[in-house]
Amino acid sequence: MSKNIRWILIATLVLIALVVGACGTPAPPPPEETPGLPSGSIEIFSWWTAGGEAEGLEAMYDVFAARYPDVEIINATVAGGAGMEAKAVLATRMQAGDAPDSFQVHAGHELIDSWVVAEKMEPVTFIFEENNWLDVYPPGVIEVLSSGGEIWSVPVNIHRSNVLWYNKQVFEDNGLTAPATLDDFFAVAEDLAAAGVTPLAVGDSGVWVDLHIFESLLLATLGPDAYRGLWDGGTDWNGSGVTEALEALAGMMDYANEDHSALSWDQAAQLVVDGDGAMTIMGDWSEGYFKSVGLTPDVEFGYVPSPGTAGSFIMLSDSFGLPLGAPNRAGAIAWLTVCGSKEGQDAFNPIKGSIPARTDGDRSLYDAYLQSAMDDFSSDEIVPSLAHGAAASEGWVTAIGDAMTLFVADLDVDAAQEAMALACVDAGVCE
Ligand code: GAL
Repeated sequence: MSKNIRWILIATLVLIALVVGACGTPAPPPPEETPGLPSGSIEIFSWWTAGGEAEGLEAMYDVFAARYPDVEIINATVAGGAGMEAKAVLATRMQAGDAPDSFQVHAGHELIDSWVVAEKMEPVTFIFEENNWLDVYPPGVIEVLSSGGEIWSVPVNIHRSNVLWYNKQVFEDNGLTAPATLDDFFAVAEDLAAAGVTPLAVGDSGVWVDLHIFESLLLATLGPDAYRGLWDGGTDWNGSGVTEALEALAGMMDYANEDHSALSWDQAAQLVVDGDGAMTIMGDWSEGYFKSVGLTPDVEFGYVPSPGTAGSFIMLSDSFGLPLGAPNRAGAIAWLTVCGSKEGQDAFNPIKGSIPARTDGDRSLYDAYLQSAMDDFSSDEIVPSLAHGAAASEGWVTAIGDAMTLFVADLDVDAAQEAMALACVDAGVCE
């Protein structure tokens, strides 16, 4: 046998062995040999540092690491609920041309008005198309992520803002049931105060927490249609519904823990865990927090729509975007692909305390509270959140927040309402 023929034979045998081997074990080729698979590192920017939200993010990182073992994730978090601090840091970085590879941003005005209009983002419509996602997201969700015919970020969840959480043991010990209306709330709060328990746990070291409670109160006093009208000029900010909501907020603060302005939302949740506070009004990331400290829904803690808001669901959605100039664009696209995937969302949301933004999440992975949120999201009136970037532009939210900062200090209803009515005019929405 000539040398050449021997080599051809050996090469053929090797080829056959490779083909047979590949049929038996469908292992993918090593990543470094696969063209297009990203490598290097990606910086993921968010404000998820509290119990529940941090673990949820880690679970999504684990899904990413299994799919893209050659990409290292740099977990760039800036602590502070609702991203008050993180958003300021992000703005400075974006101005300086120092974009992270991907960052957390609320769907709706926060995304579109802050970043898309400023031409700082790349559209992600192609990621939706390549992954056939256009059919698995509700049209309403796609709509709030869209502008000018493009989709601008990938949603990871749907959160509910208008929830009242309560310590079941404290309620049982005092023979109380969870309040359904504002009148019920004040009656229950009075009983709890008489029993020496702080009725309402509040941690408003950031004014967003006051806005958060306030949006539930606006919904309670106005109802869903008039609440929506606040954001498109259809409802008068000088009207009685806004007055009543401010009065209710002032009344609620009478029943709050004295150190409320020194605490964060999760420290307030901990008061409820410890039975030092009976209730808290907060988004369902609190569920993630309660579970992160070992509690189970319907066992140690209960939940109802915040007083007077049954049948309506104040919605917000966390999403991730693709900034123009992302240092590792391929890595960022890989991250966004995980964020939007069923696997990523079903790993993240059961821990985070949110429901998937996709319609095909595996319901059996979600606990009793989250299943109830899924049901409510499909049957309730859906209205947008003020405190979490969905209802109004960032500038407008800041102006309402400034009025709120003064209000929680002086409880002057007239002054706050006047400032809020003016903020609507300044936002170009009211006349
Ligand atoms: C919200 C955000 C939630 C949760 C919460 C507290 O703005 O949408 O995911 O993180 O802040 O930090």
